[in-house]
Amino acid sequence: LLTSATVAQAQDFPSRPITVIVPFSAGGPTDKVARDIAQIMGKQLQKPLIIENAAGAGGTIGTKKVVLAKNDGYTVLIHHIGMATAPSLYRHLGFDPLKDLEMVGEIADVPMVLLGAKAFPPASANELPAYLKANASNISLANAGIGSASHLCGLLLQSALQTELTTVPYKGTAPALSDLMGGQVNLMCDQTTNVSGQIKSGAVKPYAAMQTQRIQAFKDIPTAQEGGLPPIEVKIWHAMYAPKGTPAAIIDKLSAALQAAVQEPGFKSKMADLGAQAVTPARAQPASLRTHLGHEIDKWTPIIKKAGIYAD
Ligand code: MLT
Repeated sequence: LLTSATVAQAQDFPSRPITVIVPFSAGGPTDKVARDIAQIMGKQLQKPLIIENAAGAGGTIGTKKVVLAKNDGYTVLIHHIGMATAPSLYRHLGFDPLKDLEMVGEIADVPMVLLGAKAFPPASANELPAYLKANASNISLANAGIGSASHLCGLLLQSALQTELTTVPYKGTAPALSDLMGGQVNLMCDQTTNVSGQIKSGAVKPYAAMQTQRIQAFKDIPTAQEGGLPPIEVKIWHAMYAPKGTPAAIIDKLSAALQAAVQEPGFKSKMADLGAQAVTPARAQPASLRTHLGHEIDKWTPIIKKAGIYAD
């Protein structure tokens, strides 16, 4: 039942700035996608979208903040594939992504690359399996916490190679990248939106694109399989959510602004330059996100259960 207050609320939405919760550190790959899309959506909605980083626990801390936020449309979340893996990684997650959040729509697909510190001995991917097996206990693998994209990719790599490395969790892959560049950690999977500059400058060693096709913007990086690694495929998708009960008329306004933003030439070319891809407007809609999130939960749950790891 739409009360007249709700109708009025929706009609003049947004009447003030909107807070976008990013559940990882500032400056990282999720933060970058969020800031880019927020800026364009702000123009569409004629009110600024302001990023607030609420990091920790692989993105679940920031997500919980939005689950508990007021459902007036002035708090939204931008998160990635971690929304689909958290339900199987966290036994006491405290929320059900499909029941306790409203879907707004998807934003971009971002590929992952496996990176080594410059001084890490293996010169290329085909040297990794033997080297990792022989030196596992002395090798550190950075990630952004259990449930993060970097964690998921590292999990697949370790289970595919039957090798357990020492994982070092950070609040996002921005701080992890500076330790990788400094040689404090040896390896990391990360999204190209975070590491494209460092790959181009040679500040880190790209071993493989963690997918079956080469990345258009990084054609000289072999795929995992070409590099002699198991054919690991982990593509990171980013989406926007709102608290449960946010009025449908407000969700529709947010989704309409998102659909326009993902088509904006500047956003599309910026994503392409970073090796990523803006989604089609069809995917920037609530129903499409709900279907995709459901499929991803179904896909990753058995994989994670088989790996037998839990965050809590
Ligand atoms: C980030 O934005 O820091 C990343 O999404 C972390 C991750 O998921 O690996």
